[in-house]
Amino acid sequence: MKAMKRVLALVLAGVLCLAFAACDTSAKNERAADQSSVEASNNSETADAAEAKPTNGKLVMATNASFPPYEYYENEKIVGIDAEVAELIAEKLGMELEIKDMEFGSIIGAVQTGSVDMGMAGMTVTEDRLVTVDFSDTYATAVQVIIVKEGSEIISVDDLEGKKIGVQENTTGDIYASDGFGEENIKRYSKGNDAVAALSAGIIDAVIIDNEPAKSYVKANEGLVILESTYADEEYAIAVSKDNTELKENINKALGELKADGTLDSIIKKYIPED
Ligand code: ARG
Repeated sequence: MKAMKRVLALVLAGVLCLAFAACDTSAKNERAADQSSVEASNNSETADAAEAKPTNGKLVMATNASFPPYEYYENEKIVGIDAEVAELIAEKLGMELEIKDMEFGSIIGAVQTGSVDMGMAGMTVTEDRLVTVDFSDTYATAVQVIIVKEGSEIISVDDLEGKKIGVQENTTGDIYASDGFGEENIKRYSKGNDAVAALSAGIIDAVIIDNEPAKSYVKANEGLVILESTYADEEYAIAVSKDNTELKENINKALGELKADGTLDSIIKKYIPED
């Protein structure tokens, strides 16, 4: 089956987009829109590097805070693995962390134009994103999974053919699904929970999303299950401007320390208890 073969190719490649020149239209639009600033930065690297550096001792992070356990609201505060790790990175850099919540699809652009210093949002490193931004070392791994209603006739990836699939807009789930099953079968939502609500309401047949948020959405909504057959392996990292290698290096150094002394592990374990 064609779709299945593609899915396998993606799984084998580990990261998305390696095998496909034209991945998704949204990423293409993002690239097109950002093209002018890429050119500008190529022409005046030194000036831009100075400008893109964080100022006022603030480390401004862009995220999309509807993605538990990585980032979500608790008592009007953004908490989660990313928020905690970012806080410690900022501390190590002697800076104060400020988190800006935005649409997931706006994060890369915000990093690229320098309106934020970094993007941390359970964001998967992909070839396509690497065209416009740099990524830190990875700090977590993930898998794309499929959520369906209990008792659904969909029991594996292959059964998704011709079904209505919900995704969070501009995520890798969106790209995989549109590429594998056709634009006409994809419904895009601004948040993962909105896709899951649509699934519960019977508007769509399945949701493709990262495993940990999937677990948390399924826990919060009765009558949903995660299929055993997974979709693709991914790695999360922090996006930084290509003009700010100094920040990237500092982030990597901080991340390295957090990995070496077990802090990163214990933060992840705190939010993702082993079952
Ligand atoms: N890992 C997926 C991606 O990079 C989904 C990330 C969604 N993150 C979020 N905070 N909403 O596309």
